[in-house]
Amino acid sequence: MKFTTVLLFMFAAHIAHSTEIVAHRGASGAAPENTVAAFKLAWELGADACELDLHLTADGKIAILHDKDTERTTGVLMRVADSTLDDLRTLDAGAWKNVKYQGEKIPTLAESLATLPVGTQRFFLEIKCGPEVVPALTEELEDWKPRAAQLCIIAFSEAVAVESKKALPWLKVYRLSSEQTKDKEPVDLTALIEKTKAQGLDGLDLGSKWLWSAAMVKRVKEAGLEIYAWTINDPVQAKQLADLGVDGITTDEPALLKSALGR
Ligand code: G3P
Ligand code: CA
Repeated sequence: MKFTTVLLFMFAAHIAHSTEIVAHRGASGAAPENTVAAFKLAWELGADACELDLHLTADGKIAILHDKDTERTTGVLMRVADSTLDDLRTLDAGAWKNVKYQGEKIPTLAESLATLPVGTQRFFLEIKCGPEVVPALTEELEDWKPRAAQLCIIAFSEAVAVESKKALPWLKVYRLSSEQTKDKEPVDLTALIEKTKAQGLDGLDLGSKWLWSAAMVKRVKEAGLEIYAWTINDPVQAKQLADLGVDGITTDEPALLKSALGR
């Protein structure tokens, strides 16, 4: 085999195993989370993916923000489920982070997705509300079918994950899970894997406090599921997770983690 062919194989193997760096709510360490500015900055910093959070508004539209209300990120209290998208978009979602971001609006899904470069980069769309958003999401994503590989859905709610997969079978859907239930009981990984498989979902996106190990990652992968980790800003922990073989790591600091992983 020629030396150049060997190099090509090595390069292909590196690409195949490289850990996807997912910018959490965009490059939210520096820019205001879940804004067009944060998504654009993430792509500039070389993130492989961006994560965003979405909710259904009172007028049946989709708004991009993390919380159920707007107080923390705009300084003005509006409940998303009781507000129209137009009302939410009168607020300033940038100034709280830094005055240079004054004027950033709560983005629409279309505005957010418009930042996605044509290529291998992806958006992780986290559904924060209930399954009532799925019909609106399905309609909004219809035109994205040719770029299906560039989108995936994540959700903590089992019902939301299952409904999303049913309505959007052409998209990957990953189930989010903390290591504990709301009642502080440990989550049973074996049961979670079995359920996720049985529901036809594509993988798990697990919190940083799980007892991460090579055996755990192997179990998830051997079940035919992908495995992602959130939210990791410590470069040492990121390197450990990458060495365990996780498929991707979600972080507020995509540039820091890329450099920690030697990329
Ligand atoms: O990417 C998963 C992660 O975003 C889940 O937690 O609270 O930041 O939405 P949260
Ligand atoms: Ca999120």
